[in-house]
Amino acid sequence: MSEFDKRTNIVSEEELLGQKRFAEKAGALLSSRYAEMPKACVVTYGCQQNVADSEKIKGILELIGYSFTDERTEAKLVIFNTCAVREHAEDRVFGNVGALKKYKLANPDVIIAVCGCMVQQKHIAEKFKKSYPFVDLVFGTHTVHRLPTLLYRTLTSKKRVFETPDIDGVIAEGVPVRRDDVSKAWLPIMYGCNNFCTYCIVPYVRGRERSRNEQDIINEFKQLVENGCKEIMLLGQNVNSYGKDLSPKVSFSQLLRDLNAIDGDFRIRFMTSHPKDCTKELIDTVASCEKVARHLHLPFQSGSNRVLKAMNRGYTREQYKELIDYARSVMGDELSVTSDIIVGFPGETYEDFCQTLSLVSEIKATSLFTFIYSPRKGTPAAEMDDPVPEREKSKWFKELTDLQEEISASQMELHKGKTYKCYVYGKGKLADNYVAARNDGDLIIEFEGDESLIGTFQTIKVIQPLTFVMRGELVKEKTV
Ligand code: 5AD
Ligand code: SF4
Repeated sequence: MSEFDKRTNIVSEEELLGQKRFAEKAGALLSSRYAEMPKACVVTYGCQQNVADSEKIKGILELIGYSFTDERTEAKLVIFNTCAVREHAEDRVFGNVGALKKYKLANPDVIIAVCGCMVQQKHIAEKFKKSYPFVDLVFGTHTVHRLPTLLYRTLTSKKRVFETPDIDGVIAEGVPVRRDDVSKAWLPIMYGCNNFCTYCIVPYVRGRERSRNEQDIINEFKQLVENGCKEIMLLGQNVNSYGKDLSPKVSFSQLLRDLNAIDGDFRIRFMTSHPKDCTKELIDTVASCEKVARHLHLPFQSGSNRVLKAMNRGYTREQYKELIDYARSVMGDELSVTSDIIVGFPGETYEDFCQTLSLVSEIKATSLFTFIYSPRKGTPAAEMDDPVPEREKSKWFKELTDLQEEISASQMELHKGKTYKCYVYGKGKLADNYVAARNDGDLIIEFEGDESLIGTFQTIKVIQPLTFVMRGELVKEKTV
């Protein structure tokens, strides 16, 4: 047993074997109940971590014997994997789950399940218990690996099953994963978050930071490359803290270097980096690892130091700007920067917001993910005075997106005549004989080319930047 395995949050092999046995039992039960094995539909909301969880859920369901459909009313099992980051996402879930009531009442053998971040909040789990009696199974973010047991219980008992333990979280290795796309993969390297930004619900619903053992990540990564995967996105709420809880410690930069050294032609991406933990060493590592995309998703949330402090972000706009300046000095125009911004944090004034606009102008991001602040029950910000009306916040929001649109367009112009290594991922939209490719910075370049190029890396020269895509031409065919 390694030092690492002594950590108490690792799910034991016995537990995982037990789950496999329950998967077999559930499969046998379903094949005795139905002439043909039933279909499942997994509906996913929210971030890439949720997408990765849904791939585990589908892996488990496939092991049980389910096939899959996108049509909810064709499925005997519908699972909603939910997001709690903003109220809007929660409202959509309530609406979509509610819409299945009729289907469930007409087909009592159908199982409706809700899982993920939303139901990790006590008041939401209660709401499903009381007001959604046709929901059979509710399970939280820490019990995905226990789905075989939970499903078997739901199939065999008349009682509804709720399992949303309020714990710091676990690491379960060896859970099967069913990936929808062989060429592109999400690879979680750590779970949870310790940062407690005052607006954010994530640390409450995803538990404390915990890193996967480096060797487990390397093994999964190698397997993906062997299976033909070309783009691998390393996932974590704050990848810069990867490995701090391991013994011996491993830094995220070290992990990147070790993955970069693996044989094969592939591209490594990662998200999300937290500016307070993003080091010059990491930027140097990105610059020196040829397989790591020159892309930093580095959310700054606000350009006002006062607001950043109230958000508990742990950095100033000057420190943020310094990081970006350093990254640009090392990687030049090749570097693509993207960021998240919240508009209308409680107590934010128009002057604060103008600071955000000025930072946006300075940073010149490729694109931004912008959000209007949404109060989350149980977070400190939800208790703060929030005098600015929604209407006003919407105006600010529009001002921000208009500014970024201009910046994105002028940034696109900079790419004219430049040559990039791109991964050709599918058919193009500009014309029938076009295929579409992505460069390091996630920019889409379409060019005239044969469909046989799909699934390969090619060198493409940008001819004409358009609004959302660029027209390019193949420089020299290189089949990988
Ligand atoms: N309201 C609005 N946006 C939020 N985010 C996180 N919490 C909230 C909230 N309560 C945004 C942040 C984060 C992104 C994933 O979602 O910008 O980086
Ligand atoms: Fe939320 Fe902040 Fe953690 Fe990101 S770093 S998940 S915004 S608490």
